Amino acid sequence: MYRSRPKGRMDDDVLAFLSSTKHDQSILYYDIVGSEAHSVMLHEIGIISRQELKKILAALEAAKKNPGLIDTEGAEDIHEALEAFVIKQAGIDAGGKMHTARSRNDQVVLDIRMKVRDDINELCTALADLIDSLVKKAEKNKDAIMPLYTHLQQGQLGTFSHVMLAYADALCRDFERIYNTFGRINQSPLGSCAIAGTSIGIDRKRTATLLGFDGLMLNSLDATTSRDSFVEYVAALAILASTLARMAEDLIIWSTQEFGFVELDDRYSSTSSAMPQKKNPDPLELTRAKAAIIAGRLASMLGMVKGLPSGYSRDLQDIKPQLLEASATATSTVKVTNGVISTLTVKKKKMLDTSAKSYAISLDIAEQLVAKGVPFRSAHKVVGALVSRAAEKDIPLAALETKEISFALEQAKQNGIKPDELAKIVKEMTPEKSIESRRSAGSPNPKEQDEMIKTAKSRLAGYREGTQKRTKYVKDSLDILAKTVARYVQA
Ligand code: ARG
Repeated sequence: MYRSRPKGRMDDDVLAFLSSTKHDQSILYYDIVGSEAHSVMLHEIGIISRQELKKILAALEAAKKNPGLIDTEGAEDIHEALEAFVIKQAGIDAGGKMHTARSRNDQVVLDIRMKVRDDINELCTALADLIDSLVKKAEKNKDAIMPLYTHLQQGQLGTFSHVMLAYADALCRDFERIYNTFGRINQSPLGSCAIAGTSIGIDRKRTATLLGFDGLMLNSLDATTSRDSFVEYVAALAILASTLARMAEDLIIWSTQEFGFVELDDRYSSTSSAMPQKKNPDPLELTRAKAAIIAGRLASMLGMVKGLPSGYSRDLQDIKPQLLEASATATSTVKVTNGVISTLTVKKKKMLDTSAKSYAISLDIAEQLVAKGVPFRSAHKVVGALVSRAAEKDIPLAALETKEISFALEQAKQNGIKPDELAKIVKEMTPEKSIESRRSAGSPNPKEQDEMIKTAKSRLAGYREGTQKRTKYVKDSLDILAKTVARYVQA
């Protein structure tokens, strides 16, 4: 349809090679709505008569109701296919005016911006739901004592609630990164035209308002060239996906028979075609894989924008599937993770049994010695010697006899500490005492957990309010546009 200078048809293989119609399906709705706003504005500035507008809008409304009417056969993209449809329905005299003072170059970024802002609102809602589930899980598991691991070796005792709140904090940062990108995405490029504007007296602010944008991408060259905000969004998605992958990895490990700390709900488990006993954490494994996929899409996007000249280049078309697929993948991963977390069984007894046998109370014992005036470095030596003695016999620290404690003190050359005194400290260092004794801000003791739960809840309330407000603003704007369109079509 656009071939005014090149003669004849494009080579079929080339057309198939460069057509974006397949991936454009997800922006068709936005292309229609954007075309409606543009046409209304063209009428308001006197370029399109009321009768012509009516015909154009009637065709666009038909396309909106029944997208299957749009014939993409032979089209390079959905913009061409939609315009061809409007011209066929409304006639060339009316339909042929729709593309006045615009270009596919501003049109395509307009559509993507509208799609991504909806995606951001959906993702932010899903993320808030996930954070909510984590906080609820934390509230129920403040007393679930478990070992925490560094290098995947038992480090210190903590609580399951502390872990849930750690995830919540990381996801709050992910939320904020994504939430903040919205402000840069929701700027209208429409009216930038091909690259350098138009002599026609268009009203860019009017279309921006009709379409629910917060403002304009003013510079027409920047508006049609730049994809940085999309790259920023996918970078935030890649970081989010790595948070989700870490959560997945923890839960995969903790759901093994060897750990047995958690059990996935049957609805979130797969099985084996061969081994009847199997209950596999496949959704979590794919969550790990999705992080790699999204990171790969980010790398593709950066590769594509790097080294392009200013002004539209067709390379930019291939950014669209990377962006939109990354967005859809991130959202579904968040939703699946939420399902896993909210239905997860926490096996408090198994966690406590493991904690009771664990040497992860060593630092707590050393700190008790520090409280009695022993230098930390010496306390570290003594408790290290105790653990080595207990490990040789494969018994918990509390099962060591006083004579073995004396032996460890001797080995560590710590004659200043009385064996009875140390034996008492060791015996009294139960998992509960270990958690209680740690009071530093952000540590797993119950008081700190309550504080963190309070903070997370108030943050969450703000996230929800902000997301709902944005969603409503976009919806209200498009509702007003729909009413305006309906008035013109019915008149
Ligand atoms: N299908 C193109 C894309 O997705 C639309 C813009 C094409 N513009 C052009 N001048 N060839 O980016």
